Amino acid sequence: MWGPGALRRARALFGRLRPGLFRASGRRGPTASSFSASAEPCRVRALVYERHGDPAKVVELKNLELAAVGGSDVHVKMLAAPINPADINMIQGNYGLLPKLPAVGGNEGVGQVVAVGSNVTGVKPGDWVIPANAGLGTWQTEAVFHEEALMSVPSDIPLHSAATLSVNPCTAYRMLVDFEQLQPGDSVIQNAANSGVGQAVIQLAAALGLRTINVVRDRPDIQKLTDRLKRLGAEHIVTEEELRKPDMKNIFKATPQPRLALNCVGGKSSTELLRQLAPGGTMVTYGGMAKQPVTASVSLLIFKDLKLRGFWLSQWKKAHSTEQFKELILTLCDFIRRGQLAAPACSEVPLQHYQQALEASMRPFVSSKQILTM
Ligand SMILES: NC(=O)c1ccc[n+]([C@@H]2O[C@H](COP(=O)([O-])OP(=O)(O)OC[C@H]3O[C@@H](n4cnc5c(N)ncnc54)[C@H](OP(=O)(O)O)[C@@H]3O)[C@@H](O)[C@H]2O)c1
Repeated sequence: MWGPGALRRARALFGRLRPGLFRASGRRGPTASSFSASAEPCRVRALVYERHGDPAKVVELKNLELAAVGGSDVHVKMLAAPINPADINMIQGNYGLLPKLPAVGGNEGVGQVVAVGSNVTGVKPGDWVIPANAGLGTWQTEAVFHEEALMSVPSDIPLHSAATLSVNPCTAYRMLVDFEQLQPGDSVIQNAANSGVGQAVIQLAAALGLRTINVVRDRPDIQKLTDRLKRLGAEHIVTEEELRKPDMKNIFKATPQPRLALNCVGGKSSTELLRQLAPGGTMVTYGGMAKQPVTASVSLLIFKDLKLRGFWLSQWKKAHSTEQFKELILTLCDFIRRGQLAAPACSEVPLQHYQQALEASMRPFVSSKQILTM
């Protein structure tokens, strides 16, 4: 888990918000010598929260001042940033990593480099960049970040793919390859299969020759969702209710019993995933959307020797080098270029309509990631 030292380091890398942050803007931006572009007066607009609570109540659109670009800093114009459940949890104060308040919301997104400080060698004006770690504060029109807080990303991939690359596809890929030695033809079962992570799991699994059993919540337009997930490469789509029926046995006549289960939900849904796992299999919990604990029956643990594991991308990054994260990002870009990994279904919402986007991101059965555009 994150210790106080790690938290301090992460905070040091967050967007450089000057103490006068919440005064109305109108002051001039950084000096011309700091920029390779012109230093026009800067009006930064950002979604800021000063206290934890209901996002609809605590998030506000504010004008900020842009900090001066220091030698190791990068001035970034944000292009697009999604609203993910982790962003909501962070604002609510229920996440494993909480930025110092006041904070700008958003952990993921893509921006374009406007200018760099004199010591910056990793990126140049025009490059696309994504956050290197959680907590960057991506819901703002532009910002000055420390070079180490950013990672460059090729700009030949679609904008939505870049904006949603640094968290969910990374999580999906690591969970597919790090816990069980799966071979082409093996199968994986997951719940919340229409989530951002779930859609990446479906596509990456298909590209790796793995077969997927995908559990979703029932809804009036279930056929539409089923068709969409099948087009992504899903083999079976079942509802939570169908998963509990004896008919599930029919699926395993044609598909091997899964050795890997990916649990985004918890509660009853995760108990059902465990029931479907092959003996010796692993269930990896990475989300808790139902806000209920994972319950594993004693008999399943004794007679099937199932393994219960957890995954947190922030922890993975802490245990791996920046080069290894970069390699992961480039691997995922290759899947994108080969047409094997598309961004999740997205709805673009202009930054000023953030309340509508926040509300939609917390509504059930929306099946579309809200992407703030700047
Ligand atoms: N551990 C990590 O490193 C890591 C990394 C990335 C994401 N995550 C976590 O993974 C989860 C999904 O993130 P995302 O960005 O992929 O989410 P997302 O695209 O916003 O999708 C949310 C999903 O959760 C489902 N859901 C919501 N409430 C539910 C409930 N009560 N019971 C069952 N399903 C429910 C939704 O289903 P409906 O369509 O039916 O509403 C939807 O499929 C979040 O908890 C996030 O924090 C963890």
